[in-house]
Amino acid sequence: MAKDVIIALDFPTREETLAFLDRFGAGEKPFVKIGMELFYAEGPSIVREIKARGHKIFLDLKLHDIPNTVSRAMNVLSRLDVDMVNLHAAGAGEMMRGALKGLTREDGTRPLLIAVTQLTSTDAAALKNELLIDVPMAETVMSYAKNAADCGLDGVVCSPLEAEQVKGKCGEGFLTVTPGIRFADSAAGDQKRIMTPEKAGKSGCDYIVVGRPITQSDDPVAAYRRAVREFLGQ
Ligand code: C5P
Repeated sequence: MAKDVIIALDFPTREETLAFLDRFGAGEKPFVKIGMELFYAEGPSIVREIKARGHKIFLDLKLHDIPNTVSRAMNVLSRLDVDMVNLHAAGAGEMMRGALKGLTREDGTRPLLIAVTQLTSTDAAALKNELLIDVPMAETVMSYAKNAADCGLDGVVCSPLEAEQVKGKCGEGFLTVTPGIRFADSAAGDQKRIMTPEKAGKSGCDYIVVGRPITQSDDPVAAYRRAVREFLGQ
């Protein structure tokens, strides 16, 4: 799959989501991310509806449970015909391999399966004192990424600042899906470790996930096109 910009559809309702997508013309179908908020509010029907409009979908539900449960849940998600799903690498190898198995359709095709390593909201103190992990954050991130790669997953969600290191550790073909993207002139908001689309494009990011710089823009279509242009270096 080629490099692409994924718009984070962080809207609470179907109405707001579709009104946003309606701003794009019939020939322009951005890759979009549906997260827990929208999915839990509207259910699988919102996925089918957006898919029927011709968009690729990253369903960002971050599964984490016993291997059998995750495998069966992934099987349900594969039937939703999404293009990318994710799970927590902390669920460990048997869960990740079970997820891949459940996700694979009868014809051998499946959505891309991406791992979350450590949440960016987990800081060094929480890692040490609450999760009782005694190695530095960067080491756990790279180790979780390598484990995901060894289990056959397609890539990880990571900071654009980690993308090159992930590729170095897990191979060039291992995908990096990176939020924390901001235009040079847009507000960082609550994101701390940020990168511009242009720099991300040159830093080994395969997919950038862009939310507010597009969704909160006065002209979301222009902002999306700018992100694509800068990311792909056009
Ligand atoms: O609005 P913004 O561009 O910050 O949105 C980024 C999107 O990526 C949000 O949907 C957010 O939940 C998600 N995300 C993130 N950082 C992570 C994992 C996911 O910002 N580590």
